[in-house]
Amino acid sequence: MTLHSIALFLHIVGALGLFVALGLEWAGLLTLRRLANIEQARGWVNLIASLPRLYGFIWMAILLPGLYLALTVWGWDKGWIVVSLASMVVFPILGAAVSGSKLQVIGRIVTSENGQLSTTFHDLVSDPFLWASIHVRTAIALGIVFLMTIKPSWDGAVVSIGIAALLGLTSILPILRSRNA
Ligand code: HEM
Repeated sequence: MTLHSIALFLHIVGALGLFVALGLEWAGLLTLRRLANIEQARGWVNLIASLPRLYGFIWMAILLPGLYLALTVWGWDKGWIVVSLASMVVFPILGAAVSGSKLQVIGRIVTSENGQLSTTFHDLVSDPFLWASIHVRTAIALGIVFLMTIKPSWDGAVVSIGIAALLGLTSILPILRSRNA
């Protein structure tokens, strides 16, 4: 067992953790859209509200061993490494700035209201920006896994992440259409 294999193991555990956290966020948002009363919603809103702390640990588990592997084995002239690192900047922006602010409003509603969930609540949990944020973050995470396994050159890395982000963005069109309908 080498330091390299331990770092790769920790790095991949971090990557698995990222998809667990994204999965919990998806499950929470999908369930909240279908719920009718506040009591049911409180548990899910609390779960989603606890995710930023989990994401914090996950970032450390991905970044620290990732940086170690890049520094000791691969070097910084690899497009797939630098583009992955740059793409990770999207997560806190979309996660905290977009989803975080909207989830705070949703959190205030479930603590202040009782009984039936209001249309304001349902409008908020169907907000296209909230869904664009989780769709694009999931697509970029999958895009980074593609970069990590295929290890393309600079052009290939930029194009791959570009396609992933575009797919993530266009995948919310059905939500927009159903919302307009
Ligand atoms: C969401 C973010 C990330 C995910 C999901 C992820 C996932 C992975 C996975 C699954 C592997 C194994 C690939 C394989 O063995 O074929 C890997 C390898 C690697 N990752 Fe990441 N990674 C992420 C971010 C990063 C970042 C930001 C860096 C650099 C700072 C990085 C550096 C590396 C390196 C150098 C390897 C190759 C390790 C080796 O085989 O020597 N990763 N990553």
